[in-house]
Amino acid sequence: AAARKGGYEYFMLKEIHEQPEALRNTIAPRIVNGLPDFSEEGISDELLRNTKRIVITACGTAMHAGLVGRILIEKLTRIPVSVEIASEFRYANPILDENTLVITISQSGETADTLAALRLAKENGSMTLSIVNVKGSSIARESDFVLYTHAGPEIAVASTKAYTVQLSALYLFAFRFAFVKEKISQQKAQEYITLLEDTIDTVAYVLSYDTQIEAISQRLKSADDLFFIGRGLDYALSCEGSIKLKEITYIHSEAYAAGELKHGTISLITDNVPVIALATQADVYAKTISNVREVRSRGAKVILITNADVQVDASLCDHHIMLPPMEAEFTPFAAAVVLQYIAYYTAVARELNVDQPRNLAKSVTVE
Ligand code: G6P
Repeated sequence: AAARKGGYEYFMLKEIHEQPEALRNTIAPRIVNGLPDFSEEGISDELLRNTKRIVITACGTAMHAGLVGRILIEKLTRIPVSVEIASEFRYANPILDENTLVITISQSGETADTLAALRLAKENGSMTLSIVNVKGSSIARESDFVLYTHAGPEIAVASTKAYTVQLSALYLFAFRFAFVKEKISQQKAQEYITLLEDTIDTVAYVLSYDTQIEAISQRLKSADDLFFIGRGLDYALSCEGSIKLKEITYIHSEAYAAGELKHGTISLITDNVPVIALATQADVYAKTISNVREVRSRGAKVILITNADVQVDASLCDHHIMLPPMEAEFTPFAAAVVLQYIAYYTAVARELNVDQPRNLAKSVTVE
């Protein structure tokens, strides 16, 4: 097993480091003449043109990838997208029709609730597209179209590289969809593709944040409760950061839309409660920073994650993690690595078995 870990202490760390390669393998084959292209997958422009609505359904981390995908697809296309937890969706008598494209996302392709959601979508006459990592898995076989991610096998229970490649597949889809729907020009689609390719190097660069984050994790390891806050893409990322942390560190954590804090959760913010605040989006930056001030004035220990292009007053936070320069739409890839590292190094500091957390399974094939 040590050899299979390639010198890394845990599979999770190895898989975090495999992300640039996994992203390259997923993105590169789908680019033709600088544009996203799904002819290999048989996803026709006609199908996309006829799509009036999208429902994304998945579980766990895959569902969190869907939360990011929704924001991007809606932003670029103005086509409504909803994200549904598969175990809820399947019993909710959902409203579906032939102009709704149902996208299921699953690393394993075997999650029971996601598979049931897919079958329900088909029974209701919707077209189905799955974003799946495991070739020939049940969800892949039963979907009308499959967009495979190429993360390679993921061994650690806590998903890392499977998540970021799911994001990349959703970005590729969003760009193609927007282009076919004539919501963005060919030139714009090509620009987005270039930016997506650049993101691979950015992710590789963020891997060098390990020492900084390991030091911060030393200050998180004794926490009983911890909160992630953000708005928009940062909120979607917060959901993933929180699940990762609770899965492997057993620290109670919650992700909150920053503006919603004052409607309840702020009552839990007392001296030294860590708050990981994501503020990477310029359009809501000032709003999130005002939430940071609110928690800080109640004694929170703030770890602030921002883009490169902002000046952060030292009095605002205990630790500042600055992402490398990049366009706002693409920060989820870099922020994901930071959040994975926070969970990983905090679990290591607590001397836990990172790859096999208690009570959790890699693939949940029973309901
Ligand atoms: C389990 C795993 C998670 C995963 C979820 C969905 O809970 O521990 O890491 O996100 O299932 O799995 P899937 O294979 O459908 O992506």
